[in-house]
Amino acid sequence: MEMKVLIVLAHPEPQSFNGSLARLAEETFVTGGAEVRISDLYSRQFEPDEHARHFSQRKNPIRFDVQTEQRFNHHQGTLPVDVTREIDDVLWADFVMLQFPLWWFGLPAILKGWMDRVFAYGALYTGSHCFQAGVCRGKRAMLSVTTGSPAEVCAHNGQEGDTQLILWPIHYALHYVGFSVLEPSLITGVRGGYAGNDAAIQDRYLDTRLLEQRLRLTNLDSIPVIPFNAESDWNDRRKLKPRAPVYSPFIRHQAKLLLS
Ligand SMILES: Cc1cc2nc3c(=O)[nH]c(=O)nc-3n(C[C@H](O)[C@H](O)[C@H](O)COP(=O)(O)O)c2cc1C
Repeated sequence: MEMKVLIVLAHPEPQSFNGSLARLAEETFVTGGAEVRISDLYSRQFEPDEHARHFSQRKNPIRFDVQTEQRFNHHQGTLPVDVTREIDDVLWADFVMLQFPLWWFGLPAILKGWMDRVFAYGALYTGSHCFQAGVCRGKRAMLSVTTGSPAEVCAHNGQEGDTQLILWPIHYALHYVGFSVLEPSLITGVRGGYAGNDAAIQDRYLDTRLLEQRLRLTNLDSIPVIPFNAESDWNDRRKLKPRAPVYSPFIRHQAKLLLS
């Protein structure tokens, strides 16, 4: 059966490197026989701020509670049309790739807002439909991220901090709604402003990264899935059991981080 791929692109400029990466991904997946949809958030002018104005129907017209209104409107079939379109695409896809530049050590606001609005309570998660029982279980997701800083500066001991760690909350949100999350594609040192020979060197550098990306996307099955704690690792107060494995500094046994 052909794979269904959703590429969510968060970049204001189609000619950017992120734009190139989204087009490369589309081409690569289509060549591999997949069906591809692209959600280009800027060209769709996706409104990232969750707000009462998006809801024509309200369970509580006096006080706007986001989760209450998301769940109510999902059940009524009155979620905003832009959100419904994105949810349909997520539910349609087997593989979701989020393509974005690292902005201020996180997601561009438009993509954060996409998560706030599209991962709607009742539609993509509830208290009992999350993690291993998540709505998106059986689907895979992957972040494809570019940074301006070079690799050594995005490393565990680099001045920009460890980019892999910085991505943890985004990975955890995807895990929360049920995705199996693949190790991210991280392309560092993506910056313009070069002239002359330096510009030519940078162009060659980026061309090589594009070739590597094509190879990576052609071999999705060889990309490791990021491990998270299993259901059986939590006690009945949702705390980590004493002998449960630890996969990141964010969920650990010792309160104090052992830093050395
Ligand atoms: C608002 C903003 C914030 C940024 N924050 C970071 C950052 O935290 N770390 C970093 O390495 N680069 C940062 N950058 C640089 C971008 O990551 C870089 O320009 C981008 O990855 C290049 O891809 P593009 O050519 O597709 O835009 C930032 C750029 C902008 C515009």
